[in-house]
Amino acid sequence: LFAAECDFLWAASSVASLPPPGAPEIAFAGRSNVGKSSLLNALTNRKSLARTSHTPGRTRELNFFGLGGGIDDARLRLVDMPGYGYAAASKEQIASWTQLMQDYLRGRAPLLRAFVLIDGRHGLKPPDYEMMDLLDRCALSYQIVLTKQDEVKEADAARRIEETLKAIEKRPAAYPQAIFTSSRTADGVAELRAAIARLLAE
Ligand code: GTP
Ligand code: MG
Repeated sequence: LFAAECDFLWAASSVASLPPPGAPEIAFAGRSNVGKSSLLNALTNRKSLARTSHTPGRTRELNFFGLGGGIDDARLRLVDMPGYGYAAASKEQIASWTQLMQDYLRGRAPLLRAFVLIDGRHGLKPPDYEMMDLLDRCALSYQIVLTKQDEVKEADAARRIEETLKAIEKRPAAYPQAIFTSSRTADGVAELRAAIARLLAE
């Protein structure tokens, strides 16, 4: 699946401008700067397909990427979402991103799963719990991906996985496994690809 070409398809800044439903979709959500766009690039083996930045708040729209085809014939769409929990953005900006994400996550028929990215150095934070509350409410299957493994000691990484699994234990829509990844070293990226391929095969 991931050997196929991946290209930008569509950007949506409001629910009215979403692309017409087509191929199955997988969305990447997470706090600002957690590494969503970087992971998307690592997954697709493209250095700068999704724009990344040191400054939080880089991704401002829902960006759709097509694997193995264009808007009409891709096998899978990967969706890079704006980050949440970004304190420096204006109230209006935050409200409009939040609305867009909620509308998309709630009502998108082809959406198979959201991957919720958590900074592996810090673990779950209050805005992450809010995101999981939303996903549980709309009964959209989601899976935790811990990021920036290259910055975390092995023993800390094992503990972080454990505490994360404990925190999602009773959450109805949470998939009971977490993947630790690094976009720098590509650790965990093959495992994430396999998880996505399994979803498509279901
Ligand atoms: P927003 O679009 O602002 O929500 O951010 P994002 O979640 O898309 O994060 P992005 O991929 O732009 O990365 C943010 C910063 O984290 C950049 O400086 C990246 O280089 C860095 N980063 C991303 N992934 C990793 C990783 O696996 N390891 C390390 N060490 N840094 C990473
Ligand atoms: Mg981004």
